[in-house]
Amino acid sequence: MTIRFKKESIETVTTPVLVLPWFSGGKTQPAETMLVDKHLGQMLSRYAEEEHFEGKAAQTLLIRTDGKIGAARVILLGMGEKKKLTPEIVRQAAGTAMNCLKGAKTASATIIFFGKGKTQFESYATAMVEGLLLASYAFGRYKKEEGVPPEEVTIALADAALVRLAEKIRPRAEALARATIFARDLVNTPGAHLSPKELVEETRKLVEGVPQVEMEVFDKAQLTEMGAGGLLGVAQGSDHEPYLVHLTYKPKKASKQRIALVGKAITFDSGGLSLKPTKYMLSMKCDMAGAAAVIGLFSIINELSPTVEVHGYFGACENMPSGKALRPGDVVTAMNGKTIEIHDTDAEGRVTLADVLTFALKSEPTAIIDLATLTGACLVALGEEVVGVMGNDQKLIKMVMDSAQATGEKMWQLPLEEAYKRDLKSEIADYKNLGSPWGGSVTAGLFLQEFVGGKPWAHLDIAGPAFAEKPINSYMKHGGTGWGVRTLAEVLRRI
Ligand code: BES
Ligand code: MN
Ligand code: ZN
Repeated sequence: MTIRFKKESIETVTTPVLVLPWFSGGKTQPAETMLVDKHLGQMLSRYAEEEHFEGKAAQTLLIRTDGKIGAARVILLGMGEKKKLTPEIVRQAAGTAMNCLKGAKTASATIIFFGKGKTQFESYATAMVEGLLLASYAFGRYKKEEGVPPEEVTIALADAALVRLAEKIRPRAEALARATIFARDLVNTPGAHLSPKELVEETRKLVEGVPQVEMEVFDKAQLTEMGAGGLLGVAQGSDHEPYLVHLTYKPKKASKQRIALVGKAITFDSGGLSLKPTKYMLSMKCDMAGAAAVIGLFSIINELSPTVEVHGYFGACENMPSGKALRPGDVVTAMNGKTIEIHDTDAEGRVTLADVLTFALKSEPTAIIDLATLTGACLVALGEEVVGVMGNDQKLIKMVMDSAQATGEKMWQLPLEEAYKRDLKSEIADYKNLGSPWGGSVTAGLFLQEFVGGKPWAHLDIAGPAFAEKPINSYMKHGGTGWGVRTLAEVLRRI
């Protein structure tokens, strides 16, 4: 699907389907919508009233024009109250429009858009493009899509200056949607079709040829040499060998700032010998969503052209029960020499991240951000849509939270309560991998903190929104959401 912004006169536009924004709670509609209404002899207002279409967000109304204007069909698109409009409402409205267009089986469509004020318009135009593209996504590997998105969507603006502005922001918005979709595809691919090795190969395909990006891969023999006892331990029950991946982006002008982005990459989490019940295991192909976000970001990083050095890391492995699997009570030695007593083989993410974070310290990062589908407790605390953020540097945390807010991804801070560190003490090792039954996201965060070498660090527990068990909104339906790609891109812009 191609998207373009174009100066269009409402009088002369010809299109199979015309989408018109419609506000609720008042009679004033965008000037362009009013103009179409006038040409149709107030048919739109009349039908809206008769059909009880109030213009609430996510509401739509399809109207046939009988050839009275250059569009055979008009879709009224509810935007909610004009004074409550935000970029996220625009993103969701764009998603709703796309879902409608998929059902309308049309090869092309024109969406009337409005705007004033440079910064506000830029964020609305970005949201428009993201919403359309993200809603057009379907995971098509195993069945044919039901609705087909139009091949071409024109976003019509009344003003040539706005068109120039919109065309300037379009490439970035398109790249972010593309990267988010790559991440979704990786998350949606079942464990059987995305082994650790396949995840590494998919990563290679996505970042190969991306200018300024290099990829380094360490296999089992090298991991043994490096003393990655955590990653090797978690992987030992699986028939698939683990890999550690290091991606590097260098800006054209050398920078003293180095950001390490670390993603959890369990390609399937059965729980290991501490086996999960089927109900909880079903979605565990999503347990590499943290890495997927990092990989997605790297696939477009040259287009974002951050001015800082960016390092991406993930330790790909599978958590399986078998005669070779890690047992509760076993002790593994992480790459930094610290010993970990395994109390629950299902708390595997932190054990692998202990090694990956330790390894990330080698590049001497000035900030570390990790993304991990780490704890079910985070779902209990914050629900399915909100990510838990923790860390040791309030300035970094705030910057990450502000970035999330700006992109419409939701995040809330949890405290890394020092007192709970006592719950991670082991009788026979430096740590155990399990805290108390309460505040599980916090003890998991405290565990990771032991491996960041005191560097500024923010930990994002994305267990909730990484995978949608039910549709979240118009542009995030069932399955992988690609959560984090857009927030990370915004972080790189602000840092
Ligand atoms: N991958 C899971 C966490 C998870 C749960 C992600 C739900 C996405 C949705 C993680 O490895 C896990 O199993 N955590 C355990 C930790 C417990 C054993 C301390 C959990 O949350 O139950
Ligand atoms: Mn687990
Ligand atoms: Zn897991």
